[in-house]
Amino acid sequence: MKSRTQPLSMRLPTLLLGLSAAIGLSSAQAQGAAPTFYADALPVFQKNCVACHQPDGPDVGGISAPMPLNDYAQAKIWAPLIKNALITGYMPPWGAHERHRGEFKDERYIDDDELNLLVAWVDGGALEGNPADAASHTLAASDGTTELPNSGWWIGDPDLVVQFDRPVHVEDDVMDWQPTIQMPVPPGAHDEPKWVASAELDPGGPWVHHIVSSHMGVGVPGRGPFSYPEGWGVLLPEDPFITVNMHYHKNPGEGTAVNDLTRAGFVFYKDGAVIDHVVETNLLPNSGWTIPPGDPNYKVTNTHDIDEDIFLLSMGPHMHYRGKAMRYEVEYPDGEREVLLWVPKYDFNWQFLYEYKEPKFIPAGSTLHMSWWFDNSKENRWNPDPMAAVEYGPTTTDEMANARIYFAPTKKRGIVVGGEIPGDVLAAARDDDERRRSRANLLDQSKDDLNWLTEDGVNGR
Ligand code: HEC
Repeated sequence: MKSRTQPLSMRLPTLLLGLSAAIGLSSAQAQGAAPTFYADALPVFQKNCVACHQPDGPDVGGISAPMPLNDYAQAKIWAPLIKNALITGYMPPWGAHERHRGEFKDERYIDDDELNLLVAWVDGGALEGNPADAASHTLAASDGTTELPNSGWWIGDPDLVVQFDRPVHVEDDVMDWQPTIQMPVPPGAHDEPKWVASAELDPGGPWVHHIVSSHMGVGVPGRGPFSYPEGWGVLLPEDPFITVNMHYHKNPGEGTAVNDLTRAGFVFYKDGAVIDHVVETNLLPNSGWTIPPGDPNYKVTNTHDIDEDIFLLSMGPHMHYRGKAMRYEVEYPDGEREVLLWVPKYDFNWQFLYEYKEPKFIPAGSTLHMSWWFDNSKENRWNPDPMAAVEYGPTTTDEMANARIYFAPTKKRGIVVGGEIPGDVLAAARDDDERRRSRANLLDQSKDDLNWLTEDGVNGR
């Protein structure tokens, strides 16, 4: 797959590294206590960075880390930017506040002493040290360092793969475009409803900003494949098409047109497995507000009543470039409040889904309180136009205040895969598909390639 292979130039330094190591005597030995790559920095990179920063690293929703950090030559070249990324908190990328340590899957917090060590390594001249030192460390195994399976999918061997009929052409003048596109299901490949255990979106390139599909979650930078806990699933009704909402975002201009061939892969539960929790999702959007021009701290709030006992699986805040911070709080029936998620420095470029290690019980009668903060001042370096009064809207220069949740009722359904599917579950799954399709501005791939140019979703500049 093209998007996951690295250009040759990225591989070269490995060869160079081999060479310099062979020459021997590293300068670190002469420097006494100064930290070296092999003895000091590498284990920290391994623990905190290499899951993404590895040769042919994982595609995190359309982007890959630009360099491997288990490679001395590369780490040295990038040293000044590494220090900068660490002290600004840009890397490792993670939005949830420290208070949430231990709560969410795949969390990425770097310990202070580790951060200080890397900074000292950079300040000390990014010394190499002795490659033999690396061997004496047991390198922390990190989930992400496993190799991409031969199938080309992180979820393993998918039971169903769908893709666009033909590549979608994203024209020169497109900056933001959000077509809804159907991926045809190969004949005979999906003739009856199936329970999705995991799903993966493979965007055709970094210009794909996000992809929304209730079966697959949301594909955006920062999110990998989507797997449900054992016994949790989503029903994918039999259907000739899988419908996805694409969001293309790029700098417009001559020669910037791209073709996108996004794919999706699914792994289904096997017959005999038991689905106790049918996953539901809710976007919990709030609109109807206007952010005044220049306002550095505009706050929007919303509430949502929980009317049956649920397990909350995950939360996915969504704003655009003016998004500054976001909070989910729960108010329990007895009036006590608890912060579920606090994202103090929201970053549009990384849209994480915060997934509980253990689904969180929220009793009926609770209320969710959501708050979003926006910075529409010129101090916000991402702000496309501080003079604009901004409202809720689909393009990235509009704003959004969404608080997606994935959850399921606590009451166990005991649905045996391969057996009869309860009518309410099937009806809900079909309705959901239907709704998405009817609301959508469908891109007809059977027509002439230029037809979509007249669609509303195009916002050229
Ligand atoms: C979740 C995956 C992930 C992890 C973990 C991660 N990075 Fe990154 N990193 C990326 C991606 C993707 C990019 C490219 C993002 C971009 O273009 O802004 C990047 C970019 C960078 C850059 C370039 C920034 C720039 O200014 O251009 C540096 C330096 C960096 N990472 C260092 C680190 C260090 C050091 C760690 C560990 C402490 C780390 N990263 C952990 C994914 C990751």
